[in-house]
Amino acid sequence: MLDRLEPQSPDALLALIKLHAADDRPDKIDLGVGVYRTGQGDTPVFGSIKGAERVLIETQESKSYLGPEGDIGFVNALMPYIFGPDATMGGRIQGMQTPGGTGAVRLAVALAQKAGMTKLHMGTPSWPNHAQILSDIGLEWQGFEHAKPDGTANLDAVLGAIRQAGPDEGVLLHGCCHNPTGVDYTADDWAQIADALAESGTFPIIDVAYQGLGKGLEEDAAGLRSVLAKVPEAFIAYSCDKNFGMYRDRVGAFYIMAKDSGETLEKAFSNANALARASWSMPPDHGGAAVRVILRDAELTEEWLDELDQMRARMRQVREYLADAGTAGSVDLTPLGTQNGLFSVLPLSKEQVTRMREDHGVYMAGSGRINVAGLTMDNIDKFISALADVTGE
Ligand code: LMR
Repeated sequence: MLDRLEPQSPDALLALIKLHAADDRPDKIDLGVGVYRTGQGDTPVFGSIKGAERVLIETQESKSYLGPEGDIGFVNALMPYIFGPDATMGGRIQGMQTPGGTGAVRLAVALAQKAGMTKLHMGTPSWPNHAQILSDIGLEWQGFEHAKPDGTANLDAVLGAIRQAGPDEGVLLHGCCHNPTGVDYTADDWAQIADALAESGTFPIIDVAYQGLGKGLEEDAAGLRSVLAKVPEAFIAYSCDKNFGMYRDRVGAFYIMAKDSGETLEKAFSNANALARASWSMPPDHGGAAVRVILRDAELTEEWLDELDQMRARMRQVREYLADAGTAGSVDLTPLGTQNGLFSVLPLSKEQVTRMREDHGVYMAGSGRINVAGLTMDNIDKFISALADVTGE
Protein backbone atom coordinates (compact mmCIF):
# COMPACT_ATOMS: atom_id res chain seq x y z
CA MET A 1 0.00 0.00 0.00
CA LEU A 2 2.73 2.43 0.91
CA ASP A 3 4.29 2.09 -2.54
CA ARG A 4 1.37 4.10 -3.88
CA LEU A 5 2.59 7.22 -2.07
CA GLU A 6 4.44 9.93 -3.98
CA PRO A 7 7.63 11.12 -2.24
CA GLN A 8 7.34 14.64 -0.82
CA SER A 9 10.25 17.05 -0.78
CA PRO A 10 11.17 18.18 2.74
CA ASP A 11 9.77 21.57 3.82
CA ALA A 12 12.28 23.93 2.22
CA LEU A 13 12.42 26.29 5.21
CA LEU A 14 12.91 23.54 7.78
CA ALA A 15 15.49 21.83 5.53
CA LEU A 16 17.61 24.98 5.85
CA ILE A 17 18.05 24.29 9.60
CA LYS A 18 19.84 21.02 8.76
CA LEU A 19 21.88 22.51 5.93
CA HIS A 20 23.07 25.31 8.21
CA ALA A 21 23.93 22.87 11.02
CA ALA A 22 26.03 20.77 8.64
CA ASP A 23 28.11 23.78 7.46
CA ASP A 24 31.34 24.01 9.46
CA ARG A 25 32.36 27.51 8.33
CA PRO A 26 32.70 29.48 11.60
CA ASP A 27 31.37 32.71 10.06
CA LYS A 28 28.21 31.19 8.51
CA ILE A 29 25.04 33.29 8.96
CA ASP A 30 21.58 31.81 9.57
CA LEU A 31 18.81 34.03 8.17
CA GLY A 32 16.45 31.10 7.59
CA VAL A 33 13.71 29.94 9.92
CA GLY A 34 11.93 32.64 11.94
CA VAL A 35 13.41 32.60 15.40
CA TYR A 36 14.58 35.68 17.25
CA ARG A 37 18.31 35.92 18.02
CA THR A 38 20.12 38.21 20.43
CA GLY A 39 23.05 40.41 19.43
CA GLN A 40 25.22 37.38 20.31
CA GLY A 41 23.25 35.13 17.95
CA ASP A 42 21.47 33.11 20.67
CA THR A 43 17.79 32.20 21.08
CA PRO A 44 17.58 31.97 24.88
CA VAL A 45 14.58 30.96 26.97
CA PHE A 46 12.97 34.21 28.22
CA GLY A 47 13.71 35.07 31.88
CA SER A 48 9.96 35.52 32.39
CA ILE A 49 9.32 32.00 31.05
CA LYS A 50 12.01 30.55 33.36
CA GLY A 51 10.28 32.36 36.25
CA ALA A 52 6.90 30.95 35.25
CA GLU A 53 8.35 27.46 34.87
CA ARG A 54 9.72 27.65 38.43
CA VAL A 55 6.21 28.58 39.62
CA LEU A 56 4.73 25.66 37.68
CA ILE A 57 7.20 23.18 39.19
CA GLU A 58 6.22 24.35 42.65
CA THR A 59 2.48 24.65 42.17
CA GLN A 60 1.24 22.38 39.39
CA GLU A 61 -0.54 19.52 41.11
CA SER A 62 -1.75 17.45 38.20
CA LYS A 63 -1.03 16.65 34.59
CA SER A 64 -4.50 15.23 34.11
CA TYR A 65 -6.42 16.01 30.87
CA LEU A 66 -7.94 19.44 30.35
CA GLY A 67 -10.06 18.94 27.21
CA PRO A 68 -9.89 20.03 23.56
CA GLU A 69 -10.03 23.73 24.50
CA GLY A 70 -6.84 23.44 26.61
CA ASP A 71 -5.94 25.96 29.31
CA ILE A 72 -8.78 28.48 29.24
CA GLY A 73 -6.99 30.64 31.85
CA PHE A 74 -4.19 31.11 29.29
CA VAL A 75 -6.63 31.80 26.44
CA ASN A 76 -8.53 34.42 28.45
CA ALA A 77 -5.43 36.08 29.91
CA LEU A 78 -4.20 36.85 26.39
CA MET A 79 -7.45 38.45 25.28
CA PRO A 80 -6.99 42.00 26.61
CA TYR A 81 -3.59 42.15 24.87
CA ILE A 82 -5.11 41.06 21.57
CA PHE A 83 -8.57 42.61 21.62
CA GLY A 84 -8.14 45.61 23.95
CA PRO A 85 -10.07 46.72 27.05
CA ASP A 86 -13.41 45.19 25.97
CA ALA A 87 -11.60 41.91 25.44
CA THR A 88 -14.63 39.81 24.52
CA MET A 89 -16.45 42.50 22.47
CA GLY A 90 -19.44 42.16 24.76
CA GLY A 91 -19.18 38.38 24.99
CA ARG A 92 -18.94 37.90 21.21
CA ILE A 93 -15.40 36.41 21.29
CA GLN A 94 -14.49 33.02 22.66
CA GLY A 95 -11.21 31.14 22.28
CA MET A 96 -9.40 27.87 22.75
CA GLN A 97 -5.78 26.82 23.01
CA THR A 98 -4.10 25.26 19.95
CA PRO A 99 -0.78 23.58 19.16
CA GLY A 100 1.04 26.73 17.98
CA GLY A 101 -0.24 29.31 15.55
CA THR A 102 -0.21 26.57 12.92
CA GLY A 103 -2.87 24.63 14.85
CA ALA A 104 -4.94 27.80 15.08
CA VAL A 105 -4.68 28.50 11.33
CA ARG A 106 -5.58 24.90 10.56
CA LEU A 107 -8.59 25.02 12.87
CA ALA A 108 -9.72 28.35 11.41
CA VAL A 109 -9.58 27.03 7.85
CA ALA A 110 -11.22 23.71 8.70
CA LEU A 111 -14.04 25.41 10.58
CA ALA A 112 -14.55 27.95 7.78
CA GLN A 113 -14.79 25.11 5.29
CA LYS A 114 -17.24 23.26 7.51
CA ALA A 115 -19.35 26.43 7.75
CA GLY A 116 -19.53 26.60 3.95
CA MET A 117 -16.63 28.83 2.91
CA THR A 118 -15.92 28.04 -0.74
CA LYS A 119 -12.73 30.01 -1.36
CA LEU A 120 -10.10 31.91 0.60
CA HIS A 121 -8.25 34.92 -0.83
CA MET A 122 -4.71 35.41 0.35
CA GLY A 123 -2.01 38.01 -0.33
CA THR A 124 1.07 36.45 -1.85
CA PRO A 125 3.80 35.80 -1.09
CA SER A 126 2.62 34.43 2.24
CA TRP A 127 4.00 32.11 4.89
CA PRO A 128 4.47 28.95 2.75
CA ASN A 129 2.59 26.81 5.27
CA HIS A 130 -0.62 28.80 4.66
CA ALA A 131 -0.90 27.30 1.16
CA GLN A 132 0.16 23.87 2.42
CA ILE A 133 -2.54 23.88 5.11
CA LEU A 134 -5.19 25.04 2.63
CA SER A 135 -4.30 22.37 0.13
CA ASP A 136 -4.25 19.69 2.84
CA ILE A 137 -7.70 20.77 4.08
CA GLY A 138 -8.90 21.01 0.48
CA LEU A 139 -10.10 24.62 0.56
CA GLU A 140 -9.63 26.46 -2.72
CA TRP A 141 -7.59 29.64 -2.49
CA GLN A 142 -6.75 32.51 -4.78
CA GLY A 143 -3.80 34.87 -4.44
CA PHE A 144 -3.55 38.62 -4.81
CA GLU A 145 -0.36 40.65 -4.73
CA HIS A 146 0.44 41.64 -1.15
CA ALA A 147 3.28 44.11 -1.67
CA LYS A 148 4.26 46.50 -4.43
CA PRO A 149 7.79 46.51 -5.87
CA ASP A 150 8.52 49.73 -3.93
CA GLY A 151 8.21 47.80 -0.65
CA THR A 152 4.78 49.10 0.41
CA ALA A 153 1.50 47.22 0.72
CA ASN A 154 -0.71 46.86 -2.34
CA LEU A 155 -3.95 48.25 -0.89
CA ASP A 156 -5.82 48.17 -4.20
CA ALA A 157 -5.12 44.44 -4.54
CA VAL A 158 -6.51 43.51 -1.12
CA LEU A 159 -9.55 45.79 -1.51
CA GLY A 160 -10.18 44.34 -4.97
CA ALA A 161 -10.00 40.77 -3.63
CA ILE A 162 -12.36 41.57 -0.73
CA ARG A 163 -14.91 43.34 -2.94
CA GLN A 164 -14.84 40.67 -5.60
CA ALA A 165 -15.27 37.82 -3.06
CA GLY A 166 -18.78 36.79 -2.18
CA PRO A 167 -20.21 36.25 1.31
CA ASP A 168 -19.25 32.55 1.10
CA GLU A 169 -15.63 33.51 0.59
CA GLY A 170 -12.96 34.69 2.98
CA VAL A 171 -9.73 36.62 3.11
CA LEU A 172 -6.66 35.64 5.11
CA LEU A 173 -4.82 38.66 6.50
CA HIS A 174 -1.62 38.92 8.54
CA GLY A 175 -2.32 41.03 11.65
CA CYS A 176 1.19 42.52 11.78
CA CYS A 177 4.82 41.84 10.80
CA HIS A 178 3.80 40.25 7.50
CA ASN A 179 5.59 36.97 6.84
CA PRO A 180 7.60 36.99 4.55
CA THR A 181 7.66 40.61 3.34
CA GLY A 182 7.62 42.64 6.59
CA VAL A 183 5.21 44.97 4.72
CA ASP A 184 2.24 45.91 6.92
CA TYR A 185 -0.92 47.86 6.13
CA THR A 186 -1.08 51.40 7.54
CA ALA A 187 -3.85 52.45 9.94
CA ASP A 188 -5.65 54.11 7.04
CA ASP A 189 -5.28 50.95 4.92
CA TRP A 190 -6.79 48.88 7.75
CA ALA A 191 -9.73 51.29 8.01
CA GLN A 192 -10.44 50.84 4.29
CA ILE A 193 -10.02 47.07 4.57
CA ALA A 194 -12.48 47.01 7.50
CA ASP A 195 -15.05 49.02 5.49
CA ALA A 196 -14.64 46.77 2.45
CA LEU A 197 -15.11 43.66 4.61
CA ALA A 198 -18.20 45.12 6.24
CA GLU A 199 -19.71 46.09 2.88
CA SER A 200 -18.95 42.87 1.02
CA GLY A 201 -19.60 40.33 3.78
CA THR A 202 -16.28 38.62 2.98
CA PHE A 203 -15.23 36.61 6.03
CA PRO A 204 -11.91 37.67 7.65
CA ILE A 205 -9.41 35.18 9.05
CA ILE A 206 -6.59 37.11 10.71
CA ASP A 207 -3.29 35.43 11.54
CA VAL A 208 -1.49 37.18 14.40
CA ALA A 209 1.85 35.44 14.89
CA TYR A 210 4.14 38.32 15.82
CA GLN A 211 2.29 40.72 18.12
CA GLY A 212 4.80 42.99 19.84
CA LEU A 213 7.62 42.36 17.37
CA GLY A 214 6.65 45.21 15.04
CA LYS A 215 5.87 48.58 16.60
CA GLY A 216 4.54 47.54 20.03
CA LEU A 217 1.86 45.28 21.52
CA GLU A 218 -0.95 47.83 21.15
CA GLU A 219 0.20 49.19 17.80
CA ASP A 220 0.50 45.70 16.33
CA ALA A 221 -3.09 44.86 17.31
CA ALA A 222 -4.62 48.07 15.96
CA GLY A 223 -5.36 46.76 12.45
CA LEU A 224 -7.05 43.63 13.78
CA ARG A 225 -9.12 45.70 16.20
CA SER A 226 -10.27 48.10 13.49
CA VAL A 227 -11.54 45.15 11.45
CA LEU A 228 -13.28 43.52 14.42
CA ALA A 229 -15.04 46.80 15.22
CA LYS A 230 -16.72 46.75 11.79
CA VAL A 231 -17.49 43.12 10.90
CA PRO A 232 -20.03 40.74 12.43
CA GLU A 233 -17.90 37.58 12.39
CA ALA A 234 -14.21 36.70 12.20
CA PHE A 235 -11.63 34.07 13.11
CA ILE A 236 -8.32 34.96 14.74
CA ALA A 237 -5.32 32.62 14.80
CA TYR A 238 -2.76 33.61 17.43
CA SER A 239 0.76 32.44 18.20
CA CYS A 240 2.84 32.94 21.36
CA ASP A 241 5.74 31.04 19.83
CA LYS A 242 7.61 34.22 18.90
CA ASN A 243 6.53 36.86 21.41
CA PHE A 244 7.16 34.49 24.34
CA GLY A 245 10.03 32.63 22.61
CA MET A 246 8.22 29.31 23.07
CA TYR A 247 8.77 27.96 19.54
CA ARG A 248 9.12 24.23 20.24
CA ASP A 249 6.49 24.26 22.98
CA ARG A 250 3.83 25.11 20.37
CA VAL A 251 1.72 27.77 22.08
CA GLY A 252 -1.22 29.15 20.16
CA ALA A 253 -4.86 30.13 20.45
CA PHE A 254 -7.86 30.27 18.14
CA TYR A 255 -10.60 32.86 18.69
CA ILE A 256 -14.05 33.05 17.15
CA MET A 257 -15.93 36.34 16.98
CA ALA A 258 -19.65 35.83 16.28
CA LYS A 259 -22.39 38.38 15.58
CA ASP A 260 -23.68 38.04 19.14
CA SER A 261 -22.85 36.27 22.36
CA GLY A 262 -25.57 33.65 22.04
CA GLU A 263 -26.35 30.53 20.11
CA THR A 264 -24.19 31.20 17.01
CA LEU A 265 -21.04 31.62 19.07
CA GLU A 266 -21.77 28.50 21.08
CA LYS A 267 -22.52 26.49 17.96
CA ALA A 268 -19.31 27.64 16.24
CA PHE A 269 -17.28 26.96 19.38
CA SER A 270 -18.70 23.45 19.74
CA ASN A 271 -17.70 22.73 16.13
CA ALA A 272 -14.18 24.06 16.76
CA ASN A 273 -14.00 21.81 19.80
CA ALA A 274 -15.07 18.77 17.78
CA LEU A 275 -12.52 19.52 15.03
CA ALA A 276 -9.75 19.95 17.61
CA ARG A 277 -10.70 16.69 19.30
CA ALA A 278 -10.55 14.86 15.98
CA SER A 279 -7.22 16.48 15.03
CA TRP A 280 -4.99 16.62 18.12
CA SER A 281 -7.50 15.80 20.83
CA MET A 282 -5.97 18.26 23.30
CA PRO A 283 -3.22 20.87 22.90
CA PRO A 284 0.13 20.47 24.70
CA ASP A 285 -0.22 22.16 28.08
CA HIS A 286 3.14 23.38 29.26
CA GLY A 287 3.70 26.52 27.18
CA GLY A 288 0.19 27.86 27.61
CA ALA A 289 0.38 27.26 31.36
CA ALA A 290 3.68 29.20 31.52
CA VAL A 291 2.16 32.14 29.59
CA ARG A 292 -0.87 32.11 31.93
CA VAL A 293 1.43 32.28 34.96
CA ILE A 294 3.27 35.26 33.46
CA LEU A 295 0.12 37.18 32.56
CA ARG A 296 -1.41 36.70 36.01
CA ASP A 297 1.71 37.95 37.80
CA ALA A 298 2.57 41.67 37.67
CA GLU A 299 6.34 41.20 38.08
CA LEU A 300 6.65 38.43 35.51
CA THR A 301 4.48 40.45 33.11
CA GLU A 302 6.79 43.42 33.50
CA GLU A 303 9.82 41.20 32.85
CA TRP A 304 8.15 39.78 29.74
CA LEU A 305 7.27 43.25 28.42
CA ASP A 306 10.92 44.31 28.91
CA GLU A 307 12.13 41.26 27.03
CA LEU A 308 9.73 42.02 24.21
CA ASP A 309 10.92 45.66 24.10
CA GLN A 310 14.53 44.50 23.85
CA MET A 311 13.73 42.15 20.96
CA ARG A 312 11.89 44.86 19.10
CA ALA A 313 14.63 47.45 19.69
CA ARG A 314 17.31 45.07 18.40
CA MET A 315 15.40 44.27 15.23
CA ARG A 316 14.82 48.00 14.68
CA GLN A 317 18.55 48.60 15.09
CA VAL A 318 19.39 45.95 12.47
CA ARG A 319 16.75 47.36 10.11
CA GLU A 320 18.07 50.90 10.52
CA TYR A 321 21.64 49.74 9.88
CA LEU A 322 20.58 48.01 6.66
CA ALA A 323 18.48 50.97 5.52
CA ASP A 324 21.39 53.35 6.24
CA ALA A 325 23.66 51.16 4.11
CA GLY A 326 21.42 52.19 1.17
CA THR A 327 22.30 49.67 -1.50
CA ALA A 328 24.29 46.45 -1.67
CA GLY A 329 25.12 45.61 -5.30
CA SER A 330 21.78 45.99 -7.07
CA VAL A 331 19.66 45.56 -3.91
CA ASP A 332 18.00 48.62 -2.40
CA LEU A 333 18.01 48.05 1.36
CA THR A 334 16.21 51.26 2.32
CA PRO A 335 12.66 49.76 2.42
CA LEU A 336 13.79 47.40 5.20
CA GLY A 337 13.93 50.41 7.52
CA THR A 338 10.16 50.88 7.44
CA GLN A 339 9.17 47.21 7.31
CA ASN A 340 8.31 45.32 10.50
CA GLY A 341 9.13 42.17 12.41
CA LEU A 342 11.52 39.35 11.72
CA PHE A 343 11.29 39.20 7.95
CA SER A 344 11.89 41.04 4.70
CA VAL A 345 12.21 39.76 1.16
CA LEU A 346 15.19 40.71 -0.98
CA PRO A 347 14.81 40.67 -4.78
CA LEU A 348 17.23 37.78 -5.39
CA SER A 349 17.02 35.00 -7.96
CA LYS A 350 17.22 31.35 -6.83
CA GLU A 351 20.78 31.28 -8.22
CA GLN A 352 21.75 34.34 -6.17
CA VAL A 353 20.25 32.76 -3.01
CA THR A 354 22.30 29.62 -3.74
CA ARG A 355 25.44 31.69 -4.20
CA MET A 356 24.79 33.50 -0.90
CA ARG A 357 24.77 30.06 0.74
CA GLU A 358 27.53 28.29 -1.17
CA ASP A 359 30.00 31.14 -1.64
CA HIS A 360 29.35 33.10 1.56
CA GLY A 361 27.71 30.75 4.10
CA VAL A 362 24.59 32.97 4.26
CA TYR A 363 21.46 30.81 4.70
CA MET A 364 18.13 32.31 3.61
CA ALA A 365 14.83 31.05 2.20
CA GLY A 366 14.70 30.39 -1.55
CA SER A 367 12.14 33.20 -1.88
CA GLY A 368 14.81 35.72 -0.86
CA ARG A 369 13.30 36.05 2.62
CA ILE A 370 15.74 36.95 5.36
CA ASN A 371 15.24 36.80 9.12
CA VAL A 372 16.75 40.14 10.16
CA ALA A 373 17.25 38.85 13.73
CA GLY A 374 19.98 36.57 12.35
CA LEU A 375 22.09 39.68 11.71
CA THR A 376 24.32 41.09 14.45
CA MET A 377 26.75 43.97 14.58
CA ASP A 378 29.47 41.29 14.05
CA ASN A 379 28.13 39.77 10.84
CA ILE A 380 26.05 42.49 9.20
CA ASP A 381 28.89 43.99 7.15
CA LYS A 382 29.83 40.55 5.87
CA PHE A 383 26.18 40.04 4.86
CA ILE A 384 26.06 43.38 3.00
CA SER A 385 29.34 42.54 1.17
CA ALA A 386 28.01 39.09 0.25
CA LEU A 387 24.85 40.69 -1.19
CA ALA A 388 26.97 43.15 -3.17
CA ASP A 389 29.07 40.27 -4.46
CA VAL A 390 26.17 38.11 -5.70
CA THR A 391 24.14 40.98 -7.17
CA GLY A 392 26.90 43.33 -8.39
CA GLU A 393 27.03 43.79 -12.11
C1 LMR B 1 8.89 30.91 9.84
O1 LMR B 1 8.15 31.39 8.98
O2 LMR B 1 10.11 30.81 9.68
C2 LMR B 1 8.31 30.43 11.12
O3 LMR B 1 6.98 30.82 11.21
C3 LMR B 1 8.53 28.99 11.37
C4 LMR B 1 7.65 28.10 10.57
O4 LMR B 1 6.97 27.27 11.19
O5 LMR B 1 7.63 28.19 9.34
